[in-house]
Amino acid sequence: MRVLEKISEVRKAVAAARAEGKRIGFVPTMGDLHAGHISLVCAASSRTDFVVVSVFVNPTQFGPSEDYEKYPRDLTRDTKLCQTNGVDILFAPSAAEIYPAENITWVSVEKLSDPLCGESRPGHFRGVATVCTKLFNIVQPDIAFFGRKDAQQAIIIRRMVEDLDMPLAIEVCPTVREPDGVAMSSRNKYLGPQERRDAVAIYAALRRCADLLEKGEVDTAILAADICGTIGKTPSARVEYVGIMSTDDLQPVRRIEGPTLVAVAVWIGSTRLIDNLVFDPHTGKVSL
Ligand code: PAJ
Repeated sequence: MRVLEKISEVRKAVAAARAEGKRIGFVPTMGDLHAGHISLVCAASSRTDFVVVSVFVNPTQFGPSEDYEKYPRDLTRDTKLCQTNGVDILFAPSAAEIYPAENITWVSVEKLSDPLCGESRPGHFRGVATVCTKLFNIVQPDIAFFGRKDAQQAIIIRRMVEDLDMPLAIEVCPTVREPDGVAMSSRNKYLGPQERRDAVAIYAALRRCADLLEKGEVDTAILAADICGTIGKTPSARVEYVGIMSTDDLQPVRRIEGPTLVAVAVWIGSTRLIDNLVFDPHTGKVSL
């Protein structure tokens, strides 16, 4: 495995792999890798011949009062994890390599970026879409892998690739959870021991929602109230949103008739966590 910091080096290494007829898989991350990220690496290894992982804490997707400075960074550990999981190139650029000058060219995916996390994090998805566009242009992968954990992000990136005719496929992989059901996230590190136990309430609420969906509940007001009720029993937890939306256009739905995203953002103390499930009423299948 090679650890590269420069765009030009990545381009060269990827071009060489492609000249050998290899298909390129790409996993963009902000580092502090956990089993959720590694599941994407494994998917990339199984579907492509040459795996590139980027580790870049992207400043343009953090709001001024968000956790850019304190976001966990540990490139030594990330390097070892990538090495043991068959990554070919770990691209770990500096902020100056990606943004050498003030960034004045942006990619905005309208409408899909407005609800859910877009409401409380203005500019967040513009930063995500812009850095993903840059990373796709640098790596030029055949397939890029994203986690369903960040469902809105995956929906936005997929639409961006479609709308802008970017020559790659997007694959979305299942959410990887801790044994108690809490979705793996770098931000779980911010939780104190009691808060970490409290975070299970988010999974418990989604699990209950899955049961209701499987029993045929279609009224989203009932489902949302049940989620709020379950999470509300945990004193340290505060619901920021419960969104029950069509997976196509991220518009809220009153009755469940097609593929639906049930997404939540919950504050546990001063830590904001997101999680979701996807339900397809045609198959009756819940992905949680
Ligand atoms: P980051 O939060 O590091 O996540 C990188 C990728 O890992 C994303 O596709 C995310 O959905 C996926 N992921 C995170 N936790 C997961 C889990 N528990 N199970 C499965 N997949 C999981 O998302 C970002 O970084 C950034 O916004 C990025 C796309 C890299 C752009 O800066």
